[in-house]
Amino acid sequence: MNKIYISNKREKHQINKNIYGHFAEHLGRCIYEGFWVGEDSDIPNHKGIRLDVVEALKKLNIPVLRWPGGCFADEYHWKDGIGPREQRKTIVNTNWGGVVENNHFGTHEFFDLCEMLGCEAYINGNVGSGTVQEMQEWVEYMTFDGESPMANERKKNGREKPWKVAFFGVGNENWGCGGHMRPEYYADLYRQYQTYVKNYSDTPIYKIACGANIDDYPWTEVLMREASQFMNGLSLHHYSLVGGWEKKGDALNFPEEEWFSLLENAKKMDELITKHSTIMDKYDSEKRVGMIVDEWGTWLAVEPGTNPGFLYQQNTIRDAMVAAITFHIFHKHGDRVTMANIAQTVNVLQAMILTDGEKMLKTPTYHVFEMFKHHQEAMLLDTKEESVSEYISSSVTKKEDTMIISLCNYGLEETETIEYFIEDGTFTGKTVEAFALIGDKMNAHNTFDAPEQVSKKVFEDFSIDDNKLAVVIPPMSVVTVSVQG
Ligand code: AHR
Repeated sequence: MNKIYISNKREKHQINKNIYGHFAEHLGRCIYEGFWVGEDSDIPNHKGIRLDVVEALKKLNIPVLRWPGGCFADEYHWKDGIGPREQRKTIVNTNWGGVVENNHFGTHEFFDLCEMLGCEAYINGNVGSGTVQEMQEWVEYMTFDGESPMANERKKNGREKPWKVAFFGVGNENWGCGGHMRPEYYADLYRQYQTYVKNYSDTPIYKIACGANIDDYPWTEVLMREASQFMNGLSLHHYSLVGGWEKKGDALNFPEEEWFSLLENAKKMDELITKHSTIMDKYDSEKRVGMIVDEWGTWLAVEPGTNPGFLYQQNTIRDAMVAAITFHIFHKHGDRVTMANIAQTVNVLQAMILTDGEKMLKTPTYHVFEMFKHHQEAMLLDTKEESVSEYISSSVTKKEDTMIISLCNYGLEETETIEYFIEDGTFTGKTVEAFALIGDKMNAHNTFDAPEQVSKKVFEDFSIDDNKLAVVIPPMSVVTVSVQG
């Protein structure tokens, strides 16, 4: 039972670290309260950005952060968010709760945040309600290192040197909140708008076109046919749901069948990537265009008593399973999937961190990101599975001489023993580290009063003998073992 054979020599592809990327939108309490508290806040902050959240996130090695949306991006006019804060325009966030947006967090604050996190910037531009000129000027404002109206404006606002914009999204969900466009129309607009996303620096901006919603394969077909030569990446959005958009199952109080239906929905990511990728292959057999899964994660019912437009949900060991399973799928498709951004980093949907005033907690999902970070930039090794339980998901990568093995057991009852065999080598026996995230019940989660209920623990339930590693994994658990081999 549960045998996995690892080829030490057959490296499949490198895991792009950007698969471990994040997404922060002006939605609910993600930006305001989650990241931004303002310079005058009692909550310890640097330039208005809260330090406890940044310190926690730094442990995840976040490679890239997408901002400002989401649906918000196609309503965002970047000039509203620059200059002295007290003079910035107040607008209505029509997509998310109709609340007032004071634009205190804008371009400069976003780059401060990226600098503090040590990550790349992924800016999402406005196609739905923005002009070509507006997009062109934003890129000039951020990246031009000379004398120009926009660069001069940036300098006037306190930033002499340009920033690096590594990734730029040309619109978001333009089949829906970003303009309800047909793919043919958006493909033409994409071609036009991206022309003005100029490279003002030596590092070219990686341009991402709006891709399909879930299984909208015709969208991918049209975009690839009409515009693939103008893009570096094409996005895909897939959220894990229980009972569809109508029902949105409860995040905390759910029956067994909803444990499994959520995980089944998460596993659909494999099929979606495979099918979209097959279409992309038709136009791009070299896999030059990356698939950018820039929104994924669980979308469940909001916490009782909170604004339904804020998408604030609790996070359990079930969400941790979704994260582990999804990462294993991304690893498998790492030759095409070059970035993914979980939705969203703080206080929204499948968050890493929840805050309540000055309090914060790390969710079970946070711990999966922390445990899996060693996979970033590692090589995926070829594995063959024999009689592996349907509830086990596993992935093996290698970085230098260290193998990183991650697995989850999403069964509810059985402890499983998984035997890993190296086909062409041995484990040297020198274990670097092993950790586990264990759920004692389906909805195990952290609260502000008990923030460490579900947290990473040192794991010792494994043994190594020559070319064999046996891991004993409890139900509802995620384990990582890093071992020399
Ligand atoms: O992540 C929440 C929302 O989900 C995003 O704003 C939108 O792009 C998607 O529909």
